[in-house]
Amino acid sequence: MSKLFEIKPLSVLLSESKSDQGLRKSLNALNLTTLGVGAVIGAGIFVLTGQAAAQYAGPAIVISFLISGLACLFAGLCYAEFASMIPISGSAYTYAYATMGEFVAWIIGWDLILEYLFAASTVSVGWSGYVVSFLKDFGLIIPAQFTAALGTVLVDIPQVGWKMVTPELTKNLAETGIAIDSLPHLTAILNLPAMFIVAFITILLLVGIRESARFNNVMVIIKVFVIILFIGIGFMFVNKANWVPFIPENTGEWGHFGWSGIFRGAAVIFFAYIGFDAVSTAAQEAKNPQKDMPIGILGSLGISTLLYILVAIVLTGIVSYTFLNVADPIAVGVDAMGPGLFWLRPIIKIAAIAGLSSVILVLLMGQPRIFYSMSKDGLLPPVFSKIHPRFKTPYASTIITGSVALILAGVLPISILGELVSIGTLLAFAIVCVGIIVLRIKRPDIPRSFKTPFVPLIPILGAGICILQMASLPWKTWERLIIWMALGFVIYFTYGIRKSKLRNP
Ligand code: ALA
Repeated sequence: MSKLFEIKPLSVLLSESKSDQGLRKSLNALNLTTLGVGAVIGAGIFVLTGQAAAQYAGPAIVISFLISGLACLFAGLCYAEFASMIPISGSAYTYAYATMGEFVAWIIGWDLILEYLFAASTVSVGWSGYVVSFLKDFGLIIPAQFTAALGTVLVDIPQVGWKMVTPELTKNLAETGIAIDSLPHLTAILNLPAMFIVAFITILLLVGIRESARFNNVMVIIKVFVIILFIGIGFMFVNKANWVPFIPENTGEWGHFGWSGIFRGAAVIFFAYIGFDAVSTAAQEAKNPQKDMPIGILGSLGISTLLYILVAIVLTGIVSYTFLNVADPIAVGVDAMGPGLFWLRPIIKIAAIAGLSSVILVLLMGQPRIFYSMSKDGLLPPVFSKIHPRFKTPYASTIITGSVALILAGVLPISILGELVSIGTLLAFAIVCVGIIVLRIKRPDIPRSFKTPFVPLIPILGAGICILQMASLPWKTWERLIIWMALGFVIYFTYGIRKSKLRNP
């Protein structure tokens, strides 16, 4: 039993990292920062902001972004200390192995599949939505049954197009005098565009880390440039009346405006911050990980937080939050600026498509590297750590990750995927925060080129806010998390525990 909590000695981790010549070391601080920004800015800002403002927080969504950003900052500071100390790919999994032992490491490694693989599928579904709408603007129509998850019922609304049938949509249509049953319906078969982007990116990742980083850089430049353009132009169209009341009065129901709405909004837009820790999965491909990883993690988090807050301020200033409950809130913001700025509409869509592409790329890049570390430790079969002789990429785990993500993207709806991703990530962040306290007590001697300030206050606050955010997610999501973790336990106790290299050196 005590073996379950045996830790992997840091000296072993560090010597493994030095002797591992498998992966190509080619990323510098700037690459790592763009990798982080690549993973972070995506569906959260391009899709969720408007919905969270319209349904929960109003203009005070700005405060929600600050709260959620603060939780990520605390977790990010803990990640940065770990990354400066343990520069091994595998991220939080490796950190847990060095501090809390093999069993906790397995739990976190298994949990990270939710943050990376499942999140990649989630964002691919968002990507599909934007691409279908962009192509439609140019008269290219993808048959609706191939644009949504298996079994999704769609309805053709005049002047709008095919939309997923939800109780809210039925109610809204009824209010405008349209009976939903009178409109054409169909049942979707597969989300083909979502599957296409996963396949495309998997192939890119197989070819190499440098090629993938280059593609990521281009996507990041496009999305950041367009977001800054939106903020810059948008400021000129702000109507201060839209910010009043800044915190709309609570409707009487918890989470619907007022301060409880701000907190609920923070839990929803937490998704927008997911990904900055992906930087830590590329540690073994960094040229100077000890110094550059903290820059990459905290730099990308800082840039994203600043852009998010500015977008939230501008968006709720140009258009009343009550109009933002749509899948493309930024485009609605552009519409509100008047016909003179219609040219900005397709550009926003291109930025969203580019943005979501880079998110998928970095997440699908991170997952195989976590599997790689788990497999090297014997907790997953050896196939997961095979490196391609020419491309120097973990090709087998990249293909396995891509194939599973492709199936999930094709058949599962975004709502089921999204909340699972958030709860999984929050759990990982909380464990990392606790790990920092454990390691400060157990191994104060190890040199750290970056130190989390105010320990144990910052890690306690970080873990505390993450746990509070988890608590605000629905029970159904908890049930799915418990089932997922139970599956992980079965695999660990039937495979990992027997094959672990730590137990069988
Ligand atoms: N943070 C990423 C996004 O918003 C996952 O798409």
